[in-house]
Amino acid sequence: MSQHKEIKRVTTHVLQEMKHRGEKISMLTAYDYSTASIVDQAGMDVILVGDSASNVMAGHETTLPITLDQMIYHASSVIRAVKRSLVVVDLPFGSYQGNSKGALKSAVRIMKEAEAHAVKLEGGSEIIECVERILKAGIPVMGHLGLTPQSIYKFGTYTVRAKEDAEAKRLIKDALLLQKAGCFAIILEKVPASLAEKVAAELAIPVIGIGAGGGVDGQVLVLHDMLGITQEFSPRFLRRYLNLFDSMKKAFENYIKDVKSKDFPNNSEQY
Ligand code: KIV
Repeated sequence: MSQHKEIKRVTTHVLQEMKHRGEKISMLTAYDYSTASIVDQAGMDVILVGDSASNVMAGHETTLPITLDQMIYHASSVIRAVKRSLVVVDLPFGSYQGNSKGALKSAVRIMKEAEAHAVKLEGGSEIIECVERILKAGIPVMGHLGLTPQSIYKFGTYTVRAKEDAEAKRLIKDALLLQKAGCFAIILEKVPASLAEKVAAELAIPVIGIGAGGGVDGQVLVLHDMLGITQEFSPRFLRRYLNLFDSMKKAFENYIKDVKSKDFPNNSEQY
């Protein structure tokens, strides 16, 4: 008899079942092999290879500069580490908007070259043709509404979205449209908790929130933020589980000290 315990993979169907039985979905970003391996082994349901890599990995001010090739590099590194989690990959800015054939081509590259499990696109009615074309090819799609960082230059700020009635109504319409098209889940970013709860109750598919309160079907955070590696980003919704910036800095300082003082390496640390 095999000693290996079979690992049950998280699929889009598993997420749907979780919504049905009221079990919250855990989701976190990852962008590289080593970190993704830890996140997967911790039991995360969904790993998002987010275009937030543009900020936290590459140091850009926005998510706009990251390219499709760079997203594929990050996604393929994550996929090689993951045995259980569902891996969703962001289509980066400029790889889908306004061109559904181009959108399908980008999504196919992510699925083929990175061997990802699903893609995520930002927007509602304005990108519905892209969503439909990708879904028709058999690629699972996650939607993303509310604060959509790829449109930051249209919004002008990163403040809470859909506080006004008209925008809230548009968001609900877009969420229903994405569900009707066949999206398996939707992210709601930085919208009032009452609105997010209403959307989650109206939709049959899982709604995962970031800064959208506790009334949704799951939560997502950016790994570098929740570990306290990033310091300057401190929105109300962010819970920090570690202060890794301080711990890492201390470790680096100790290493420098040990090298300078010739304490490292000692006799047992050499050949
Ligand atoms: O890119 C990303 O990390 C995201 C999350 C903030 C949802 O889209």
